[in-house]
Amino acid sequence: MTSPSSPQACLGVFDSGVGGLTVLRELRRQLPDVPMLYVADTAHAPYGQREPDYIIRRSLTVAEHLIAQGARVLVVACNTATAHAIGALRQRWPDLPIVGTEPGIKPAVAASRNGRIGVMATPSTIASARFADLIARHAGQTEVFSQPCPGLVALIERGELDTPALRQLLMQLCEPLIAAEVDTVLMGCTHYPLIQSALQQALGPQVQLLNIESAVAQQTAKQWQALGVSGQAAPPILQTTGSAEALTGFVQRALAWPLQAQALRL
Ligand code: DGL
Repeated sequence: MTSPSSPQACLGVFDSGVGGLTVLRELRRQLPDVPMLYVADTAHAPYGQREPDYIIRRSLTVAEHLIAQGARVLVVACNTATAHAIGALRQRWPDLPIVGTEPGIKPAVAASRNGRIGVMATPSTIASARFADLIARHAGQTEVFSQPCPGLVALIERGELDTPALRQLLMQLCEPLIAAEVDTVLMGCTHYPLIQSALQQALGPQVQLLNIESAVAQQTAKQWQALGVSGQAAPPILQTTGSAEALTGFVQRALAWPLQAQALRL
C-alpha cells in the first residue's frame, strides 16, 4: 500500500555511464507519461573492462538505490551488466520485473543477406557465458565475428563523439569486421548508438548497423503496463556517481535535453 511518504512509482534505469541514455531516449519515446529515474554509475565506468564480481556488486548497489527511490520495473540499460549481473539481480528481487539489454543476435541473423554478421561490444560482454549462449542458441548457420572494443566507451564518456582519436580507434576496431566481409553489425553496447554516424563511416555504407534499444523499450512497456500503475508526465531524473556538471553538459550537447543531473554517492 502506498503511504504519503512512499516514493512515486517509476521506471528505474541504469548503466555504467551515458550509454544507457540511448535506452532512456527510446523509453521516453514509447512511454512519455511514465516517471523515470536514471543512474549513470560514472565513478565506476567503464564496466566493460572490469571483473564480473565487480560488475555484480555495482549492479546490486545501484539497483537497491533505484528500488528505494520507487522503481517498480528495473531496466538494465547496459549489455555488460546484463551479461554478468542480471541473474544476481533476479535472484535478489524475484518479484521485480527486470528488463535486460543484450546483443540482438536473432534479428541480426534474420537481417543478414550473406550469413556473416559482426558484433561490437565490450571485452567483458564478449567474454561472458551469456553471450556465448546467445550465439549458440540463435546464430544457426550464420557466422558471427565478435569484436571486443577496449577504449571505446572511455572516449564516448569523455564526449568524443566524432574526434580524430575516435575515428582512428574505430578504423582499427572495424578493420577485422570489414576483412571478414560482414554485411550486418550489431551495436552490442548501449554507448555505441551515440557514435553511430562515425561508426557507419568506418564500416562503409554496405554494412547495416543494428541496435536493440527499441526492443528493450517495447519489453519494458509491456512490463510497466502489466503493473497497472498510472504515471504522471515528468522529465526524467538523472543521477550520477560521477560529475553532475559533466552529465548535464553531455545530455544538453549530445541529446539536446535541457535537464540538470544530480550527484549521487553510492
Ligand atoms: N554501456 C554498457 C554496455 O552496454 C557498458 C559500457 C562500459 O561501461 O564498458 O555494455
